[in-house]
Amino acid sequence: MQNKRLRERDDMSSKIVFGLTPSEKLARSIAKKIRCSYKTIKTSKFPDGEFHIRFPISVRNKELIIVQSFVDPNEKIVELLFIGNTAKELGARKVTLVAPYLAYMRSDRRFHKGEVVSSRVLARVLGSCVDEVLTIDPHLHRIKKLSEIFSIRAKKLTSVKLIATFIKKHYKRSIIIGPDEESFQWARAVAKELKTKAYVLKKKRIGSRAVVIKADDLKIKNQVVVIVDDIISTGNTMIETIKDAKKAKAKRIYCICIHGLFVENAYKRIKDAGAKEIVTTNTIPNKNSLIDVSSLIAGAIK
Ligand code: R5P
Repeated sequence: MQNKRLRERDDMSSKIVFGLTPSEKLARSIAKKIRCSYKTIKTSKFPDGEFHIRFPISVRNKELIIVQSFVDPNEKIVELLFIGNTAKELGARKVTLVAPYLAYMRSDRRFHKGEVVSSRVLARVLGSCVDEVLTIDPHLHRIKKLSEIFSIRAKKLTSVKLIATFIKKHYKRSIIIGPDEESFQWARAVAKELKTKAYVLKKKRIGSRAVVIKADDLKIKNQVVVIVDDIISTGNTMIETIKDAKKAKAKRIYCICIHGLFVENAYKRIKDAGAKEIVTTNTIPNKNSLIDVSSLIAGAIK
Protein backbone atom coordinates (compact mmCIF):
# COMPACT_ATOMS: atom_id res chain seq x y z
CA MET A 1 0.00 0.00 0.00
CA GLN A 2 2.77 2.38 1.03
CA ASN A 3 4.74 1.39 -2.09
CA LYS A 4 1.72 2.07 -4.23
CA ARG A 5 1.34 5.54 -2.68
CA LEU A 6 5.03 6.25 -3.22
CA ARG A 7 4.73 5.13 -6.84
CA GLU A 8 1.72 7.39 -7.32
CA ARG A 9 3.56 10.33 -5.76
CA ASP A 10 6.50 9.66 -8.03
CA ASP A 11 4.19 9.54 -11.04
CA MET A 12 2.62 12.84 -9.99
CA SER A 13 5.93 14.63 -9.99
CA SER A 14 7.35 13.20 -13.17
CA LYS A 15 8.22 15.28 -16.19
CA ILE A 16 8.08 14.00 -19.73
CA VAL A 17 9.98 15.55 -22.61
CA PHE A 18 8.15 15.34 -25.92
CA GLY A 19 10.06 15.99 -29.13
CA LEU A 20 8.46 17.20 -32.33
CA THR A 21 10.03 17.46 -35.77
CA PRO A 22 12.69 18.81 -36.29
CA SER A 23 13.74 18.81 -32.64
CA GLU A 24 13.57 15.13 -31.67
CA LYS A 25 17.34 14.69 -31.27
CA LEU A 26 17.74 17.82 -29.18
CA ALA A 27 14.70 16.86 -27.09
CA ARG A 28 16.13 13.39 -26.41
CA SER A 29 19.38 14.91 -25.29
CA ILE A 30 17.57 17.36 -22.96
CA ALA A 31 15.55 14.47 -21.45
CA LYS A 32 18.75 12.55 -20.81
CA LYS A 33 20.35 15.53 -19.11
CA ILE A 34 17.40 16.22 -16.82
CA ARG A 35 16.92 12.47 -16.25
CA CYS A 36 13.34 12.11 -17.32
CA SER A 37 11.49 10.10 -19.91
CA TYR A 38 11.34 11.01 -23.56
CA LYS A 39 8.66 10.42 -26.18
CA THR A 40 8.28 11.55 -29.77
CA ILE A 41 4.95 13.00 -30.81
CA LYS A 42 4.37 11.91 -34.38
CA THR A 43 1.98 14.00 -36.36
CA SER A 44 0.40 12.86 -39.59
CA LYS A 45 -1.90 14.46 -42.07
CA PHE A 46 -5.25 13.57 -43.58
CA PRO A 47 -5.42 13.70 -47.38
CA ASP A 48 -6.88 17.22 -47.22
CA GLY A 49 -3.93 18.49 -45.17
CA GLU A 50 -5.55 18.53 -41.73
CA PHE A 51 -3.37 17.30 -38.86
CA HIS A 52 -3.90 14.08 -36.97
CA ILE A 53 -2.01 14.12 -33.67
CA ARG A 54 -2.03 11.72 -30.75
CA PHE A 55 -0.08 11.66 -27.48
CA PRO A 56 1.71 8.31 -27.31
CA ILE A 57 1.19 7.98 -23.53
CA SER A 58 -1.08 9.35 -20.82
CA VAL A 59 -0.22 12.92 -19.83
CA ARG A 60 -2.56 13.12 -16.85
CA ASN A 61 -0.89 14.87 -13.90
CA LYS A 62 2.38 15.13 -15.78
CA GLU A 63 4.59 18.10 -16.45
CA LEU A 64 5.15 18.22 -20.18
CA ILE A 65 8.12 19.75 -21.87
CA ILE A 66 7.38 20.11 -25.56
CA VAL A 67 10.48 20.73 -27.66
CA GLN A 68 9.78 22.17 -31.07
CA SER A 69 11.71 24.59 -33.22
CA PHE A 70 9.58 26.84 -35.38
CA VAL A 71 11.01 26.01 -38.79
CA ASP A 72 8.14 26.21 -41.33
CA PRO A 73 6.43 28.22 -38.63
CA ASN A 74 2.88 28.21 -39.91
CA GLU A 75 2.56 24.44 -39.63
CA LYS A 76 4.34 24.40 -36.29
CA ILE A 77 2.01 26.95 -34.74
CA VAL A 78 -1.08 24.94 -35.66
CA GLU A 79 0.56 21.74 -34.39
CA LEU A 80 1.35 23.40 -31.09
CA LEU A 81 -2.14 24.84 -30.70
CA PHE A 82 -3.58 21.33 -30.93
CA ILE A 83 -0.93 19.79 -28.68
CA GLY A 84 -1.01 22.43 -25.94
CA ASN A 85 -4.78 22.57 -25.76
CA THR A 86 -5.14 18.80 -25.80
CA ALA A 87 -2.52 18.37 -23.07
CA LYS A 88 -4.64 20.59 -20.83
CA GLU A 89 -7.85 18.74 -21.75
CA LEU A 90 -6.15 15.47 -20.85
CA GLY A 91 -5.13 16.77 -17.43
CA ALA A 92 -1.45 17.70 -17.83
CA ARG A 93 -0.32 19.64 -14.79
CA LYS A 94 1.97 22.04 -16.61
CA VAL A 95 2.95 22.49 -20.24
CA THR A 96 6.27 24.12 -21.07
CA LEU A 97 7.16 24.90 -24.64
CA VAL A 98 10.86 24.79 -25.38
CA ALA A 99 11.15 26.60 -28.69
CA PRO A 100 14.90 26.60 -29.43
CA TYR A 101 14.09 28.81 -32.40
CA LEU A 102 11.07 31.04 -32.01
CA ALA A 103 9.85 32.35 -35.36
CA TYR A 104 7.96 35.53 -36.25
CA MET A 105 9.98 37.66 -33.82
CA ARG A 106 11.48 39.97 -36.45
CA SER A 107 8.18 41.71 -37.09
CA ASP A 108 8.08 43.80 -33.94
CA ARG A 109 6.49 47.04 -35.04
CA ARG A 110 3.65 48.17 -37.29
CA PHE A 111 5.78 49.78 -40.00
CA HIS A 112 2.80 50.38 -42.27
CA LYS A 113 -0.81 51.07 -41.47
CA GLY A 114 -2.81 47.86 -41.06
CA GLU A 115 0.26 45.60 -40.84
CA VAL A 116 0.34 42.52 -38.58
CA VAL A 117 2.90 42.68 -35.76
CA SER A 118 3.48 38.95 -35.76
CA SER A 119 5.64 38.71 -32.64
CA ARG A 120 2.84 40.13 -30.46
CA VAL A 121 0.15 37.93 -31.97
CA LEU A 122 2.28 34.79 -31.72
CA ALA A 123 3.03 35.53 -28.06
CA ARG A 124 -0.71 35.79 -27.37
CA VAL A 125 -1.45 32.57 -29.26
CA LEU A 126 1.28 30.62 -27.42
CA GLY A 127 0.09 32.05 -24.11
CA SER A 128 -3.32 30.53 -24.78
CA CYS A 129 -2.07 26.97 -25.07
CA VAL A 130 1.03 26.54 -22.87
CA ASP A 131 2.01 27.69 -19.37
CA GLU A 132 5.57 28.67 -20.01
CA VAL A 133 7.95 29.30 -22.91
CA LEU A 134 11.66 28.85 -23.00
CA THR A 135 13.63 29.96 -26.02
CA ILE A 136 17.15 30.67 -27.20
CA ASP A 137 18.24 34.08 -28.46
CA PRO A 138 14.91 35.29 -29.81
CA HIS A 139 15.19 38.20 -32.24
CA LEU A 140 14.49 41.02 -29.81
CA HIS A 141 15.22 44.44 -31.18
CA ARG A 142 12.57 47.13 -30.76
CA ILE A 143 10.86 44.84 -28.25
CA LYS A 144 13.50 44.47 -25.58
CA LYS A 145 12.08 41.76 -23.34
CA LEU A 146 9.82 38.77 -23.88
CA SER A 147 7.72 39.99 -20.94
CA GLU A 148 6.63 42.94 -23.13
CA ILE A 149 4.71 40.56 -25.39
CA PHE A 150 4.07 37.40 -23.33
CA SER A 151 1.58 37.26 -20.47
CA ILE A 152 2.87 33.82 -19.40
CA ARG A 153 6.38 33.19 -18.08
CA ALA A 154 8.74 33.44 -21.05
CA LYS A 155 12.43 32.91 -20.52
CA LYS A 156 15.19 33.86 -22.92
CA LEU A 157 18.44 31.90 -22.87
CA THR A 158 21.53 32.91 -24.74
CA SER A 159 24.05 30.82 -26.62
CA VAL A 160 26.69 33.59 -26.54
CA LYS A 161 29.07 31.71 -24.23
CA LEU A 162 28.77 28.52 -26.27
CA ILE A 163 29.58 30.44 -29.45
CA ALA A 164 32.54 32.15 -27.81
CA THR A 165 33.86 28.80 -26.59
CA PHE A 166 33.56 27.38 -30.11
CA ILE A 167 35.41 30.35 -31.64
CA LYS A 168 38.13 30.19 -28.99
CA LYS A 169 38.72 26.54 -29.79
CA HIS A 170 38.49 26.65 -33.59
CA TYR A 171 39.19 30.16 -34.88
CA LYS A 172 41.96 31.47 -32.70
CA ARG A 173 42.75 35.20 -32.53
CA SER A 174 39.78 36.29 -34.58
CA ILE A 175 37.90 39.56 -34.91
CA ILE A 176 34.12 39.58 -34.74
CA ILE A 177 31.81 41.34 -37.18
CA GLY A 178 28.09 41.91 -36.64
CA PRO A 179 26.44 42.65 -40.00
CA ASP A 180 23.94 45.12 -38.59
CA GLU A 181 22.83 46.89 -35.45
CA GLU A 182 20.38 44.10 -34.65
CA SER A 183 23.11 41.49 -34.61
CA PHE A 184 25.45 43.66 -32.59
CA GLN A 185 23.97 42.45 -29.30
CA TRP A 186 25.36 39.00 -30.09
CA ALA A 187 28.54 40.09 -31.88
CA ARG A 188 29.52 42.45 -29.07
CA ALA A 189 28.77 39.91 -26.35
CA VAL A 190 30.77 37.19 -28.13
CA ALA A 191 33.69 39.61 -28.63
CA LYS A 192 33.56 40.57 -24.99
CA GLU A 193 33.79 36.92 -23.94
CA LEU A 194 36.79 36.51 -26.24
CA LYS A 195 38.34 39.86 -25.28
CA THR A 196 38.60 40.77 -28.94
CA LYS A 197 37.36 43.57 -31.16
CA ALA A 198 33.87 43.69 -32.67
CA TYR A 199 32.79 45.77 -35.64
CA VAL A 200 29.17 46.57 -36.32
CA LEU A 201 28.15 47.34 -39.87
CA LYS A 202 25.13 49.25 -41.14
CA LYS A 203 22.50 47.32 -43.02
CA LYS A 204 19.59 48.63 -45.00
CA ARG A 205 16.95 46.09 -45.96
CA ILE A 206 15.48 46.89 -49.34
CA GLY A 207 13.26 43.84 -49.68
CA SER A 208 12.69 40.42 -48.13
CA ARG A 209 15.78 39.19 -49.95
CA ALA A 210 17.91 42.23 -50.74
CA VAL A 211 20.11 44.08 -48.26
CA VAL A 212 22.75 46.76 -48.65
CA ILE A 213 25.56 46.81 -46.12
CA LYS A 214 27.79 49.74 -45.39
CA ALA A 215 31.18 48.99 -43.90
CA ASP A 216 33.40 51.94 -43.19
CA ASP A 217 36.60 51.65 -41.28
CA LEU A 218 36.98 47.87 -41.23
CA LYS A 219 40.57 47.35 -40.11
CA ILE A 220 40.83 43.62 -40.64
CA LYS A 221 43.66 43.28 -43.18
CA ASN A 222 45.26 39.82 -42.82
CA GLN A 223 43.02 39.03 -39.87
CA VAL A 224 40.77 36.04 -39.25
CA VAL A 225 37.21 37.29 -38.98
CA VAL A 226 34.06 35.65 -37.73
CA ILE A 227 30.74 37.13 -38.82
CA VAL A 228 28.19 36.53 -36.08
CA ASP A 229 24.44 36.90 -36.59
CA ASP A 230 21.34 35.44 -34.96
CA ILE A 231 19.62 34.14 -38.11
CA ILE A 232 20.68 33.04 -41.56
CA SER A 233 17.64 32.95 -43.78
CA THR A 234 18.39 33.69 -47.46
CA GLY A 235 22.03 34.22 -46.55
CA ASN A 236 22.16 37.61 -48.24
CA THR A 237 23.16 39.44 -45.06
CA MET A 238 26.15 37.10 -44.66
CA ILE A 239 27.03 37.31 -48.36
CA GLU A 240 27.07 41.10 -48.40
CA THR A 241 29.16 41.15 -45.20
CA ILE A 242 31.61 38.65 -46.70
CA LYS A 243 32.02 40.96 -49.71
CA ASP A 244 32.97 43.80 -47.35
CA ALA A 245 35.35 41.63 -45.37
CA LYS A 246 37.03 40.55 -48.59
CA LYS A 247 37.31 44.15 -49.75
CA ALA A 248 39.00 44.94 -46.45
CA LYS A 249 41.42 42.06 -47.16
CA ALA A 250 40.52 39.70 -44.30
CA LYS A 251 42.73 36.62 -44.23
CA ARG A 252 39.96 34.08 -43.59
CA ILE A 253 36.22 34.52 -43.08
CA TYR A 254 34.01 32.30 -40.95
CA CYS A 255 30.27 32.65 -40.41
CA ILE A 256 28.45 31.69 -37.24
CA CYS A 257 24.77 32.07 -36.61
CA ILE A 258 22.45 30.85 -33.90
CA HIS A 259 19.47 29.81 -35.99
CA GLY A 260 20.34 28.42 -39.41
CA LEU A 261 17.25 28.47 -41.59
CA PHE A 262 19.23 28.34 -44.86
CA VAL A 263 16.41 28.98 -47.28
CA GLU A 264 16.85 29.10 -51.06
CA ASN A 265 20.24 27.40 -51.23
CA ALA A 266 21.71 29.87 -48.73
CA TYR A 267 24.40 27.51 -47.43
CA LYS A 268 26.02 26.99 -50.85
CA ARG A 269 25.67 30.66 -51.77
CA ILE A 270 27.47 31.77 -48.59
CA LYS A 271 30.24 29.22 -49.19
CA ASP A 272 30.57 30.37 -52.81
CA ALA A 273 30.80 33.96 -51.61
CA GLY A 274 33.95 33.05 -49.69
CA ALA A 275 33.09 31.73 -46.22
CA LYS A 276 35.60 29.13 -45.16
CA GLU A 277 33.11 27.54 -42.79
CA ILE A 278 29.53 28.18 -41.70
CA VAL A 279 28.58 26.93 -38.26
CA THR A 280 25.32 27.18 -36.31
CA THR A 281 23.89 26.02 -33.02
CA ASN A 282 21.53 23.05 -33.06
CA THR A 283 18.40 25.12 -32.31
CA ILE A 284 17.63 24.12 -35.90
CA PRO A 285 19.40 20.92 -36.86
CA ASN A 286 21.54 20.97 -40.00
CA LYS A 287 24.82 19.39 -41.09
CA ASN A 288 26.81 22.22 -39.49
CA SER A 289 24.88 22.68 -36.27
CA LEU A 290 27.97 21.95 -34.22
CA ILE A 291 27.22 24.14 -31.20
CA ASP A 292 25.05 22.11 -28.86
CA VAL A 293 22.48 23.98 -26.77
CA SER A 294 21.03 20.96 -24.93
CA SER A 295 22.91 21.62 -21.65
CA LEU A 296 21.88 25.26 -21.74
CA ILE A 297 18.20 24.27 -22.02
CA ALA A 298 18.45 21.40 -19.54
CA GLY A 299 20.00 23.77 -16.99
CA ALA A 300 17.04 26.14 -17.30
CA ILE A 301 14.29 23.55 -16.85
CA LYS A 302 12.99 23.65 -13.32
C1 R5P B 1 17.74 40.40 -39.11
O1 R5P B 1 18.15 41.53 -38.91
C2 R5P B 1 18.51 39.20 -38.68
O2 R5P B 1 19.36 39.53 -37.63
C3 R5P B 1 19.31 38.56 -39.80
O3 R5P B 1 20.37 39.43 -40.17
C4 R5P B 1 18.46 38.28 -41.00
O4 R5P B 1 17.30 37.60 -40.64
C5 R5P B 1 19.21 37.48 -42.03
O5 R5P B 1 18.41 37.30 -43.14
P1 R5P B 1 19.02 36.88 -44.53
O6 R5P B 1 19.86 35.67 -44.30
O7 R5P B 1 17.81 36.58 -45.39
O8 R5P B 1 19.78 38.03 -45.06
